[in-house]
Amino acid sequence: MSIAFPERHNLAHLPTPIEKLERLSQLLEGPEIYIKRDDLTGMGKTGNKVRKLEFLVAEALHDEAQVLITCGGLQSNHARATALAAAKVGVKSHLVLRDSAGSDIDGNLFIDRLVGAEVTFITQQEYEQVDDIMQRLADDYAKQGIKAYVIPEGGSTALGALGYALAIEEAGRQMKAMRMEFDHIISAVGSGGTLAGMLLGKSAYGLKAQIHGINVCDDAPYFQERVSNIMREAKRRFGFETSLQKKDIDIIDGYVGKGYGLSRQEEIELIKLVARTEGIILDPVYTAKAMFGLRDQIRKGRFAKQEKVLFWHTGGIFGLFPKRGLFF
Ligand SMILES: Cc1ncc(COP(=O)(O)O)c(C=O)c1O
Repeated sequence: MSIAFPERHNLAHLPTPIEKLERLSQLLEGPEIYIKRDDLTGMGKTGNKVRKLEFLVAEALHDEAQVLITCGGLQSNHARATALAAAKVGVKSHLVLRDSAGSDIDGNLFIDRLVGAEVTFITQQEYEQVDDIMQRLADDYAKQGIKAYVIPEGGSTALGALGYALAIEEAGRQMKAMRMEFDHIISAVGSGGTLAGMLLGKSAYGLKAQIHGINVCDDAPYFQERVSNIMREAKRRFGFETSLQKKDIDIIDGYVGKGYGLSRQEEIELIKLVARTEGIILDPVYTAKAMFGLRDQIRKGRFAKQEKVLFWHTGGIFGLFPKRGLFF
């Protein structure tokens, strides 16, 4: 298949390492667990969003945009990564964040402020129209003669997803060098672009591993729809060929817990366990819920002992700090 990859602006430190979680694998008495360290794509620009931003920022620069507009929750990793990427390439960032303006300037929001992002706070209800709100902001900038580039929630467009198609190619190369093949890849799912990109990459680069998403909000049918829409658009725009049906998109549902961004004590305890067993720091919003799901699925016997599982660490460390009160 010939895929027409558009321009890409280098932002991430790649390839990220793959490491074996020796002690955690023993402790859970299940498959061999490895970890793909996309928490190491950068220092400030850490996490999965940076891979998507390489394509989105390239398009913004190509369009000669002077401001990047995007949105998310108050502690959005994507918004923070966008603000840092904007600073890096010398344009302004304007973030539309859901929640109250009175919140502590902590975690991701602290970094947003540090790098000079302009922030507009909106309510949960207003957020339902966030695409319109961002478009109105872009129109206001246009009236002042400033060109804006709008990045939808999570950077989860077909263009952004290309970052994860290439991440699968990267993992495939690493597997060859390690002379091993993973049976399963597990990732958290929040807006669907990462999983869509991984599934596109799997078919493009012939990876055998089954790819599973663990949703941290909404439910499986919602994400099957959303992920398949992103994939359809990527097929149309960039020439991917995949016969994957919506029903074949494997979303392991049941680990949203108290809700998006809300932590159960068991999830906090798991963050501590992984930190103390492996020196790996999970974030409370995405990777802790995904690891919680993985551990539970191991206990339920879904992954056989002789199998190899690659847990994709998608970053999010700054989201830990506003939750410090839940830990000790
Ligand atoms: C740390 C982290 N992990 C995983 C995800 C999920 O990625 P996606 O939004 O592409 O589904 C996100 C963003 O939503 C994230 O910030």
